[in-house]
Amino acid sequence: MKHDVHIAQISDLHIAGSGEGRQLQDFDRMLEHLNVSGFDHLVISGDLSDRGRTEDWEIVRAKLESHGWYHWEKTTVVAGNHDLIRLEEEMRFYNALNPLQGLRARACRQRAESFCRFFRELVTGGDDADARFPFIKMMHFPAATIGIVACNSVHAWSPTDNPLGARGNIDPSELRAITSPEVQEALAGSFVIGLCHHALKVYGTDRLLDQAFDWTMELKNRHEFLQAMVEIGARVVLHGHFHRFQTYRAEGVEFVNGGSFRYASSRYSVLRIAGDGSFTQEFADVPS
Ligand SMILES: [Fe+2]
Ligand SMILES: [Fe+2]
Repeated sequence: MKHDVHIAQISDLHIAGSGEGRQLQDFDRMLEHLNVSGFDHLVISGDLSDRGRTEDWEIVRAKLESHGWYHWEKTTVVAGNHDLIRLEEEMRFYNALNPLQGLRARACRQRAESFCRFFRELVTGGDDADARFPFIKMMHFPAATIGIVACNSVHAWSPTDNPLGARGNIDPSELRAITSPEVQEALAGSFVIGLCHHALKVYGTDRLLDQAFDWTMELKNRHEFLQAMVEIGARVVLHGHFHRFQTYRAEGVEFVNGGSFRYASSRYSVLRIAGDGSFTQEFADVPS
């Protein structure tokens, strides 16, 4: 019998250089465990780096390579705000008399393109030309065809609209692209998984202080994003950003927040997809 497709998800690694030996050892342990357990695919839902350094991406790439995960059909990554925005630099160079928001937005887009080019093996299978967001991966496993639809949800830093760099927004052109008739046609008959870094739901508390900060973390155009996910028939959306392992449903779509590998480095999400289109999700731990 064809076994179900097993997809693991980790998120928010926040790698900060090679000095953090324990975290890197835990990463080795995680990838080894996923190999031994026979996972078909791994998704990393953003914030690979803590301070937007390419060196951190290199560490992630090297770890994936050394465990045999650095292949298009084995791993998918998207960028998080910490990958694309260097908050200290933004603040240092910000000049209130000369805000140049358009330039800042362009720089953020270019950084997203750098991310896709850097990880082009995982985005396009190695071709440089189309290594950008949004990207679609159609993967054929014996039990099912999986379509991963990945968007960039990182919103450029702005002193008024995005002061912490943590607020998300998906460019409307990306949403238009993924809902185009050609993409819909390509996705037909597959199990569709949406992927971005930011959360659809902001889980604050009733405390006023939390509520005051909620807007700084939210996905600005979450309603449009959800609408697009419904339109393409996404069954599951994977994301991170909130550093909490949680699931919730909206409009019949299951959302999985992959938590944070940095703060819980043995925990990960397991998605099992059967040939009849049914699926299960649970959080699991690497045995110690
Ligand atoms: Fe994060
Ligand atoms: Fe984040």
